[in-house]
Amino acid sequence: MTASKNILVLHGPNLNLLGVREPEHYGLATLDAIGQRLAARAKAAGVALASFQSNVEGDLVNRIQQAQREGVDFIIINPAAFTHTSIAMRDALAAVKIPFIEVHLSNVFAREEFRHRSYFSDLAIGTISGLGSKGYELALEYALGAGHGSA
Ligand code: DQA
Repeated sequence: MTASKNILVLHGPNLNLLGVREPEHYGLATLDAIGQRLAARAKAAGVALASFQSNVEGDLVNRIQQAQREGVDFIIINPAAFTHTSIAMRDALAAVKIPFIEVHLSNVFAREEFRHRSYFSDLAIGTISGLGSKGYELALEYALGAGHGSA
């Protein structure tokens, strides 16, 4: 994989509530704080990074389609509850063929059975689950080309 230059971070429903929402699962970092850390890292690397959160499935589908028109070359996505339900978002990612990493703050495999199924994982380059907000940063490092010598 070549280093990415135009990265989009997508957040699904209820992630706007990070920091107050079930901190035992999702930690205390707010979405703003996560976004700021990612933006600072991207800036230091000289890479464009945009973030988008929505509680609306269609808006996320539209944003994925828009990413192709914008020349986005890597997506980091936490589809949140849509992970387990959204064929529409899966189809959008398959259509645009932009490589992506699926991130979950919590370890979905240590939780309810309905969270074990993802409509995204088989299309993803990889999945990071259970590392809290650090997961986004590790996904970004991968996108930037660091730490994947064999990829
Ligand atoms: C989540 C896990 C999902 O099962 C859940 O619906 C979320 C967040 C996570 O980041 O751990 O909203 O994607």
